[in-house]
Amino acid sequence: MNYLSRRCKSILPYTAGEQPQDKKYVKLNTNECPYPPSPEVEKTIKDFDAGRLRLYPDPQNAKLVSVIAQKHGLNCDNVFVGNGSDEVLCMCFPAFFDENDTVAYADVTYSFYKVWAHMFGVTSRKIPLDDDFKLLHTDYLGLEGVKGVIICNPNAPTGTALGRLDLLKIVESNSDKIVIVDEAYGEFASCSVANRVNDYPNLLVVKTLSKAYALAGARCGYALGSKQLIDALKLVKNSMNSYTVNALTEAVAIAALNDKKYYAGVIDKINSQREETADALRALDFEVLPSSSNFIFARHKVLSGSEIYFQLKENGVLVRHFKGDRISDFVRITIGTADEMKMLVNEIKKIVRNRN
Ligand SMILES: Cc1ncc(COP(=O)(O)O)c(C=O)c1O
Repeated sequence: MNYLSRRCKSILPYTAGEQPQDKKYVKLNTNECPYPPSPEVEKTIKDFDAGRLRLYPDPQNAKLVSVIAQKHGLNCDNVFVGNGSDEVLCMCFPAFFDENDTVAYADVTYSFYKVWAHMFGVTSRKIPLDDDFKLLHTDYLGLEGVKGVIICNPNAPTGTALGRLDLLKIVESNSDKIVIVDEAYGEFASCSVANRVNDYPNLLVVKTLSKAYALAGARCGYALGSKQLIDALKLVKNSMNSYTVNALTEAVAIAALNDKKYYAGVIDKINSQREETADALRALDFEVLPSSSNFIFARHKVLSGSEIYFQLKENGVLVRHFKGDRISDFVRITIGTADEMKMLVNEIKKIVRNRN
């Protein structure tokens, strides 16, 4: 079709995890939180004056920015907010890369990075994870011929995390390049470098309220970085859309971020449920990668990833299967409630039994 740009004709978009509308599944496929957001979020929605929607939201989202800055011990100048962290990450491309620049990231990581690179004419350099699917920090020290690096930590879909000190070595040894750390799952681990952005002017940390904060439907993500990096993101945003975070989302995000106690409980439950589920799957002949996230990445000794995915789906449990190189044997399973995990393990037991 002649109306399309060359770029549009050639791009292969990201495929989001299924959000099926046909029947109710035990939904363990998109790393959503199995628990509701804080009760303070519900109260905020009930108390929200619909009349406010007549007006545009604050284009700076100053109140939300201030709560995020306080949470991380940073200044408001160090914070950029957006419509989910996907939007923030996407805006990093026009902010920090020119056409034909090269960006480095792992061969097995969040698959949206390659889509954005393609979209903005940026070349991707994929650095393989090791044979155990671990990211080796030594592979990233003093990179040459790249303009920047993206590290998803903990990584998706593997769930493995790089320690804070090793990550900072990457940042230090690439001081002339931007290092973007995607901490979408950072709340489930103890590897965050968010509070170090003022020590490293090339470090940008991107976070989301979609996972640990149970607000995937509200769409709110943010970046933390030096004023120079944040100003570049603001420039891109203000050249695209002045109002990326709507008024209701701003209000619920503030309510959520202020309820630390509630979310500490949610994270504890998910993390302990994760370890129990991993043990149960190992007992069923699965290899489960060590996870620091709200999901696990597992492969069976005999059954293929697609077999497990399809059979679970038939029985009402939805997990994620990726067809990519190196990982098609695996399924990625989001950690749900204790009951959901029981159902998952029972269904997997049946699949394994039927196969034997
Ligand atoms: C690694 C990673 N980064 C970013 C995102 C985007 O999250 P959101 O746009 O909901 O903030 C996701 C979502 O699944 C993710 O897995």
